[in-house]
Amino acid sequence: MGKIKDKKLAPSGMMQYAWTSAHMPVLSGIIRKNVKAKPLSGIKLGFCLQLTAETAVLILGAKALGAKVYASSGNPLTTNDAIAAYLDSTGVDVYGWSGQTQSEFAKCADEVMLQKPDLVADDGAELAVRAHNDERFSNNKILGGTEETTTGVRRINSLHGADRLQFPIMAVNDADTKRMFDNRYGTGQSTVDALMRSTSLLFASKTAVVCGYGWVGRGVAERMRAMGCKVIVTETDPIKALEAHMDGYNLMPMIKAAPLGQIFITCTGGSKIITTKHMRLMREGAILANAGHFNVEIDMMHLGKGKLVRPGLEEHSFLGKKIYIVSQGRVANLVAAEGHPPEIMDLSFSNHLLCIMYMRKNGTRLQKCIHGVPKNIDCLVARSALHSAGVKIDKLTAEQIQYAASW
Ligand code: ADE
Repeated sequence: MGKIKDKKLAPSGMMQYAWTSAHMPVLSGIIRKNVKAKPLSGIKLGFCLQLTAETAVLILGAKALGAKVYASSGNPLTTNDAIAAYLDSTGVDVYGWSGQTQSEFAKCADEVMLQKPDLVADDGAELAVRAHNDERFSNNKILGGTEETTTGVRRINSLHGADRLQFPIMAVNDADTKRMFDNRYGTGQSTVDALMRSTSLLFASKTAVVCGYGWVGRGVAERMRAMGCKVIVTETDPIKALEAHMDGYNLMPMIKAAPLGQIFITCTGGSKIITTKHMRLMREGAILANAGHFNVEIDMMHLGKGKLVRPGLEEHSFLGKKIYIVSQGRVANLVAAEGHPPEIMDLSFSNHLLCIMYMRKNGTRLQKCIHGVPKNIDCLVARSALHSAGVKIDKLTAEQIQYAASW
């Protein structure tokens, strides 16, 4: 059945889908290659992902390969309603719309679980966590799951650490062709895009504080610097901090960065990275955005109700000064912009679809733990992406292979 905002938006969603899928050659190629064999026929596949044009290419790909698909939104604010309407028009059961309350968001993920999916494909582990923690779903027989994000993998890791993991899960996030590109270049570009759309301000000469120097922080710091910002990085991990230092960034504790920054971007996946303790020290007009999965990196508890001053930007009065928060502290690149570009999601979702196919084929044989993406899948995605881009590379000669093995 599904539940979306407005079915009439389907034609606009179809146009967006056409443009996007034309820029996802690797994923389209995988779908074309497997459409006859229908390797997903006979299974129910539950998705809880950001409902974007790129995700539609993945979902309709899985449907074309034979799965019965159900989808809910991966975040209360990120659903592209036109895309949801287009998916609905193709017969996908979609539960999601933009501007959901937290409880509507949760109910939509529940709806997917109520369909008793055989496989769950997550962006943030919503379905997998429900399968383990919600009694209503304890009799669901789940063959396996796939997880798109760093945050989701952390959540699954904590289930596994407590010895509670009931089915195998593939960490799509950990494929090199996912995190090195999606987390870095995808979040880098789309977070800059979100800041540009929501503020329309100049970047050159501004001081930006990037909190966290994992793949996401690296990408955001690099792109903010390329826009002309002076970039300060904050980190707790000494190795990542050292890397940021050698990459030429100014490193300091958050409390020292707070009075210097004009734009702040949290990229940690952790909680309470920016708190009122820091906001107290910030300049008038500081702009705060979050690039992490959950809206817990900027602690907005004491900020009071904001006033919308531009689409995606709220003004808060705090101790006599104005502080601006992009997209209510939710993942800015997807709320204030459109998420990662199609060419990046092409890599991520090619991995994701291949992992779904792998899990369908091998799930019963896999241990109930977190599995990395097999190297052959990672390499296939990289080779196909290079091929699509018309890039040729060298091959090791027999002599070079022999040399490498001779040790
Ligand atoms: N996560 C980040 N960008 C995305 C996009 N464009 N589609 C789906 N998930 C995303």
